[in-house]
Amino acid sequence: MCGIVGIASKRQDVENDILNTLANLEYRGYDSAGIAVLKNNNILCKKVVGKINDLRNLVSDVDLSSSIGIGHTRWATHGAVNTLNAHPHFTENIALVHNGIIENYDEIKSELQKEGYVFKTETDTEAILFLIDKYISKGLSPLDSVINSLKHVVGAFALAIIFKNYNDLMIGVKKGAPLVVGKSDNHVVIASDVTSISKIVDDVIYLKDENIVQIKSSEIELFDTKGNPIKAEFTKVQKSLSNDINKNGYSHYMLKEISEQPMVIENLNSNYNNIIEIINEQKLDIYKKIIIVACGTSYYAGLVAKYWFEKFTTIDCMVYTASEFCYLKKRLNKDYLVICISQSGETADTLASLKYSKSLGVKTIGIVNVPKSSIDNEADYCFYTFAGPEIGVASTKCFTAQLTVLLKFILGLAEINNETDHDLISKISYELSSINDKINEVLSKQSLIAELAEYCAKFKNAIYLGRQNAYPIALEGALKIKEISYIHAEGYSAGELKHGPLALVDENMLVVVIANSTSEVYLKTISNMENVIARNGNVIIISDKKLDIKNVKQFVMPSIIDDLTPILYAIPVQLLAFYVAKEKGTDIDKPRNLAKSVTVE
Ligand code: G6P
Repeated sequence: MCGIVGIASKRQDVENDILNTLANLEYRGYDSAGIAVLKNNNILCKKVVGKINDLRNLVSDVDLSSSIGIGHTRWATHGAVNTLNAHPHFTENIALVHNGIIENYDEIKSELQKEGYVFKTETDTEAILFLIDKYISKGLSPLDSVINSLKHVVGAFALAIIFKNYNDLMIGVKKGAPLVVGKSDNHVVIASDVTSISKIVDDVIYLKDENIVQIKSSEIELFDTKGNPIKAEFTKVQKSLSNDINKNGYSHYMLKEISEQPMVIENLNSNYNNIIEIINEQKLDIYKKIIIVACGTSYYAGLVAKYWFEKFTTIDCMVYTASEFCYLKKRLNKDYLVICISQSGETADTLASLKYSKSLGVKTIGIVNVPKSSIDNEADYCFYTFAGPEIGVASTKCFTAQLTVLLKFILGLAEINNETDHDLISKISYELSSINDKINEVLSKQSLIAELAEYCAKFKNAIYLGRQNAYPIALEGALKIKEISYIHAEGYSAGELKHGPLALVDENMLVVVIANSTSEVYLKTISNMENVIARNGNVIIISDKKLDIKNVKQFVMPSIIDDLTPILYAIPVQLLAFYVAKEKGTDIDKPRNLAKSVTVE
C-alpha cells in the first residue's frame, strides 16, 4: 500500500532523506513514486512510474535542495498506474501525499466541479486536494483549511501536506491509516511507519486516529479534528530497527526472513513461558466461543489454530477472512472472544472486524508483529510475535511466529481448563522448545529444495494437498507460490481431491503433497496421492517417511510429532516458493500488484 513521508528540516537537503525514506517504504508494495519540495516558495514536483531508483535517476540532475518536502510510493487503488495519477498532487497553493481511500470522493468532486475545479486525474486524492485548496483560497489558515476539509471527508486515510509560501510548515492527518511523527535535532518527519525513519529521528509520536499534526518552525503541535490541542507523547526510537531492515548478506529479504525463523521461535519460547499468567491476568480462560479473524497468511495461521483448539480444548473456534466477517454482522455477545491476527497490525479489513466486535462489547485480542500498530492500539490485549520487521511481501517468519504464539496460548488454555492429558501437553511443549534443531536441518538442506524448484518452475498450474493440520499448510504453500512465482496454485484438503480438482490432473499438473507420517491420516493422504499418480500428475511429496515410488520426487523431512506439523512443514513450502520464484526471475520481495500492509478494504 501507499507509503508517505514528509520532512521539515533545519538543513537544505531534505530531498535525500525523502528518497531514502521512500526506499525504506518500498516493501509496502507500490507501482509509482514521487517527490515534491518547496523551492523559492514554489512547489517543485517530480513523479515516475516504476521504482525509487527510477525516481532517483529522474531527479539526478534536478536541483531539489530544500528544507521542506513530501514523498510518496503509490499502490494504485483509484485510477491507472501513470505519472498523472502518481503522488504528490498539487495546486497553486498546496502539495499533498495520501495513503488510504476517500470513500465519498465522487460526491466531493461533483460539488467542487460546480465551483469550477477541473479534475485531471482518476484518483480519489484530488477531492481532498481541491477541498483544502478551496479553503486556503478563501483565506483560511492552513490548519483551519485542513480541519474544515476533514468535516466533508469519509474514509480511512493519512495525509502529509505542504503549503506554498510557508517554507517551515507541514501538516499531517491520521484517520484510519498509519502515520507517525519523528524528530531529531535537525528534522521533523511524518511517515507511514517508524522503521522507515528510524535512522533519521530519535523520538517518535505514534499518532492516534483523528489526530492532526502541525509542524511549524520545527515545533510539533497535535490537534483533534475540531482543532483542540492534544498532548504529544514521545517514545524513544529503537535504533536497532534500522539494522533489522538490512538484508544482512542475503540475496533477498524473503530468504533472510525464512532463515530467521529459528531465532524468532526461540524468542517466543522464552517470551511466552509465562503464558498461563497472561491468560489468568487477562481472564482469557472463561470463553467457550472463539472467533479468529484475519487475512491472507494470517488467516491460514487461524485455520491451523482451529485444529489445535478442537484437539486440545472444548472451545468452539470459528475462523473468518476479515473482509467477509466485518460485513457478516454476526450477532456477537460477551460469550465470545475475538482474536485478530495480523502481521502488520494495520490490515484494514481485520481492523474493521476488530472495531465491529468492540462496538458490540466483545473482548478482543490481537496477535500482531508491529507494536503500536492500529490493531495493537484498538484491541483489549495484544500478543506480540516479536519477529522483527518483516519486509518481504510474502509473509514467512511472521506466519510461524503466529503459529507458535497460538499453540502456546491454546496449550495454556488446555492446561488451565484441564482439558487435555498433561503428559501430551508437556510432550508438545518439549518438542516445541527443540523444534529449531529440525528447522535448522530443513534450512541446511535447501539446495535440495532448490533442485526441486528447478523442476517445478516449468509448470503453469499446481495443486497443494494436505489433510487435517497439514491442510492449512497446503493452502499457505499454494498462496506463497502464486504470490511470488505467479504459478497458478490452489490448496485442497487431500480428501476433497476426488470431489472436483482431480478433473484437472494430467501430465501438465504439478501436485505438492504434504504428509507427516505421524499423522493418523498419513495413509489416507498417500492414497489420495496415488490417485494423482494414476492420472499422470507430477508429484512432489514433502514427508518424513522415505518413499520409493517411480516418478515421485521427494523432500525428506525430519520426524516430528504430528501436532507440530504446521510449524515445521511451513519451512519447505516457503523455500520451495522462494526457489521457484528465483528460478523464474520474478521480483521476489516485491511481487507485482501486491502490498505488504493493506490499509484499504
Ligand atoms: C497482504 C500480504 C500478505 C498478508 C496479508 C495479511 O495481502 O501480502 O502476505 O498475509 O496482507 O496481512 P497482515 O499484516 O494482516 O498479516
